[in-house]
Amino acid sequence: MDLLLDINGLSVFFGGVQALTKFSIQISRGDIIGLIGPNGAGKTTAFNATTGRIRPSEGSVFFCGQKITGWSPPRIARSGIARTFQNIKLYEDLSVIENVMIAAHSSVSYSFIEAILGVGRYSRDETRIKSRAYELLELMNLGEVASEQASSLPYGSQRKLEIARALALDPKLLLLDEPVAGMNPTETREFGEFLLTLRDNLPIGVGLIDHDMSFVMEVCDMIRVLDHGIPIAWGTPSAIRNNPEVISAYLGTDFNGTTVKHAKN
Ligand SMILES: Nc1ncnc2c1ncn2[C@@H]1O[C@H](COP(=O)(O)OP(=O)(O)OP(=O)(O)O)[C@@H](O)[C@H]1O
Ligand SMILES: [Mg+2]
Repeated sequence: MDLLLDINGLSVFFGGVQALTKFSIQISRGDIIGLIGPNGAGKTTAFNATTGRIRPSEGSVFFCGQKITGWSPPRIARSGIARTFQNIKLYEDLSVIENVMIAAHSSVSYSFIEAILGVGRYSRDETRIKSRAYELLELMNLGEVASEQASSLPYGSQRKLEIARALALDPKLLLLDEPVAGMNPTETREFGEFLLTLRDNLPIGVGLIDHDMSFVMEVCDMIRVLDHGIPIAWGTPSAIRNNPEVISAYLGTDFNGTTVKHAKN
């Protein structure tokens, strides 16, 4: 086992409201771990506390054996955790490929002068970054729209662009917040297959939040369930699907484990 992320006892308060209570999760290389729960359960808060956007009031986050609790979001990103957002965050006025290149730039360093003059390492890096960005776009089936404006893409493609951008950071861990929201069923199925291929071909781990239960159950090895900020279950897709506490937490919402075509475990 090659442990990447090790979160123990993480709690988050917003004012007097406890959004997350003693949350723990481990993600190793090769894992695809799901984080599910009804609206407001604290899923995004867990990602925000992991990536430094929110300070937890207790608990620890270790990444590759190093304690990263309290680190800034850019420092955490540089250490190898890339994420996407529930509310897509793209540079809307820039082209598709520029969005990916900007992310890649943040992982290389050269002097201001080199950048201004377009010389030395900058120009070499620029060529390398551009071809790498194209590769990532091709991987996400976005090669043909590389020069279009990011905001002109349909919603599902914008999600894929966010993932291409996250991959440009060469992450060890990818955290995806509702990656298939806004995708149609075909795009969702293709994305699930893509994720499994990615995991099989790159030395990375994946944590993902989603409300599309058949997608989550199909791609995840293990699933953590939150309800009102409290971890209520941890198990394989089939165990989670049949867990009475999980079913009851989802009563009245769209949890429907019975529509799952097949689970990995
Ligand atoms: N920045 C914030 N300030 C105050 N309250 C917040 C903040 N972010 C989240 N919350 C509250 O914390 C709780 C958990 O929110 P969170 O966004 O983590 O839920 P979620 O599980 O991601 O839900 P959804 O499935 O709707 O995205 C909610 O009650 C939410 O209103
Ligand atoms: Mg959320």
